[in-house]
Amino acid sequence: MPLMRLDKYISDCGVASRREIKQMIKTGRITLNGVVAATAEIKIDPEQAVVTVDGTALKYDKYHYFMLNKPAGVLSATDDGKQKTVLNLFLPEHKKFNLFPVGRLDKDTTGLLLITDDGDFAHKVISPKSEIFKVYHAHTRLPVNAADIAAFKQGVTLSDGTLCLPAGLELCEDGSCLVTVMEGKYHQVKRMLASRGKPVTALKRLQIGDLKLDESLKPGEYRPLTADELCRVMKKK
Ligand code: URA
Repeated sequence: MPLMRLDKYISDCGVASRREIKQMIKTGRITLNGVVAATAEIKIDPEQAVVTVDGTALKYDKYHYFMLNKPAGVLSATDDGKQKTVLNLFLPEHKKFNLFPVGRLDKDTTGLLLITDDGDFAHKVISPKSEIFKVYHAHTRLPVNAADIAAFKQGVTLSDGTLCLPAGLELCEDGSCLVTVMEGKYHQVKRMLASRGKPVTALKRLQIGDLKLDESLKPGEYRPLTADELCRVMKKK
């Protein structure tokens, strides 16, 4: 890992702002490798350095992973000249990690969206080759039937001729349905259901791999993933 300034390291650990850290250094509250740090500018190796604040050792995370309950009406993008994006929902202390959404949900789609600064992780989650399934709850104008379920199992063909991989389809008691897909083509779930004459009226993502949306998060709220949850994302069906 490249070297970084001591104050950036401490600020990335979420302890305080760089201005506050300068003050903490002045008052001798910070040690680096067992010695009271004299300056904020010193370059350190984040994987080797032992930094303490008021005697407590810091833990440096190379990458950051968050679960967002995406509300309707915001774009799955980092920034947009005109419209609100999912990154606008993040606090500056988290946004500073150069976060981006893992794949996209449509503007009107709600639910589980992962936000990270780890490009390899994002690629793995999105790639159909990883066989990580995504579960969506869809409300449709008409309930799906046994023929639709069989067609999804086979792999539906979209109106433009695009062939989809086999997918799961399950009718819920209230007439809505659960769709399980491995891929993330443009408007995939809406187009799959439309191809069966079942246009979607509302769509929410509930699950990625073995990770379920934390329903205690209100739309627009987010929180860091635990280490266990991070592993669950990568779980295949
Ligand atoms: N499929 C869709 O059609 N829309 C989404 O937002 C996600 C999957």
